[in-house]
Amino acid sequence: MKVFLTGATGFLGGELLVEFSKLSFIEKIFCLVRADSQLAAQCRLKKVFAFHDDFYDESKTVAIPGDLMDENLSKKLRSDFELNSVNIIVHSGANTSFLPQKRNVVEATNVNGAIQVATWASGLKDLKTFAYVGTAMIAGAGPSMVGRHIFEDESPNPNAEHIVDYTRFKMIGEMNVRRIIPEDKLLVVRPSAILGDSRLWKPRSFDIAWVFTALNVLRLCPFDITCRVDLISVDYASRAIIDLIFSDRNFNCYHLSAGRSATAMWDILQVYRNNDNGRIDYHFADPGLYKEMVSFSKKRLEQCEVLNRDYKDYLHYWQGIFNSNGEFRILLFGLEKYLRFINLDQTFDNTRLLSEGIKEPEVTSSYVGRTISFIKDIDIIESSQKNA
Ligand SMILES: NC(=O)c1ccc[n+]([C@@H]2O[C@H](COP(=O)([O-])OP(=O)(O)OC[C@H]3O[C@@H](n4cnc5c(N)ncnc54)[C@H](OP(=O)(O)O)[C@@H]3O)[C@@H](O)[C@H]2O)c1
Repeated sequence: MKVFLTGATGFLGGELLVEFSKLSFIEKIFCLVRADSQLAAQCRLKKVFAFHDDFYDESKTVAIPGDLMDENLSKKLRSDFELNSVNIIVHSGANTSFLPQKRNVVEATNVNGAIQVATWASGLKDLKTFAYVGTAMIAGAGPSMVGRHIFEDESPNPNAEHIVDYTRFKMIGEMNVRRIIPEDKLLVVRPSAILGDSRLWKPRSFDIAWVFTALNVLRLCPFDITCRVDLISVDYASRAIIDLIFSDRNFNCYHLSAGRSATAMWDILQVYRNNDNGRIDYHFADPGLYKEMVSFSKKRLEQCEVLNRDYKDYLHYWQGIFNSNGEFRILLFGLEKYLRFINLDQTFDNTRLLSEGIKEPEVTSSYVGRTISFIKDIDIIESSQKNA
């Protein structure tokens, strides 16, 4: 059996690549990789295996240099004779940036990329499964979506409101894949949000993990203490995708999520607090306080009525830990979109996934507690700079 994988150098794709390589019945894994040459592309894949000292079989793992933004990608893939016998495609590659200035790149990667790969795939005579890695966050963010437990069939909804272009273009990408790939070959998997790795090692990416480290420093959180967040580990996500690909599925779209067992933000933050005593204690405040926090970071103290009145001790605390107001401002800007997602207080139904015999994910606070030493000392200013 032959696999074609996009996004293999990423957080989830890296795990998928290593997991596929361990399956003896998989003959080849072709990976679309951004690089200037075949050699450079292959080197990038080698690094994916080196990250956790996994066995790298050069004869099984084949790099295909290419770019999802390329409008001729489908043609190029079609002209590669070796790829004609691919049976399984996992399209995990995407631009995951929340930055508004990256809008065009995010659109070209997530929409054009999905169309190009799906168009090529639709002509493959031996294709068994096209797995599109979407995101549960396409469900949307309007007022009617706050505090909701969301089901797969509610999306894609072209009228959904989006906090970031990334989710909008992931939705449009999914709609195009649904249009191009026949239903009997299509598998849409929508992870909720991926936080860390439940195994005892450093995760491939600190995405999302940095947000918890940042909130643990901030300590004054502009969201309700009861806000839940639906998170799964990267190893759970990759395992579930592979299990679904090789199962007799009853549906063609699944949330990969914690569902009703999703934890409250506070349950996870308490794990951080327990590992980091001595700071000012946590307080949960109205989301509107975020604006005043930004004003404080811009030294506009006259606009900080509530902070000045109720949270003076936090102002002193922040002045003590941030080298400059600029650092504090970067942190807040980096966090802004994530705070909006947290305030949605959404969970994603996983009944379908569990009905296929896939076990429930471990409770987030439990695996975070076990692996916190690998994710707690993240450079939060550097991480927030990438998002600010
Ligand atoms: N992480 C989450 O919380 C989460 C949650 C729900 C859904 N998802 C979905 O899961 C998938 C994987 O996400 P991730 O967290 O693994 O993302 P990631 O770490 O940012 O990895 C993205 C991957 O896509 C590749 N890529 C980006 N632009 C490309 C282009 N123009 N041409 C070719 N390849 C390109 C990247 O290659 P380079 O190494 O060259 O940049 C990388 O391999 C995505 O589809 C994402 O939407 C993720």
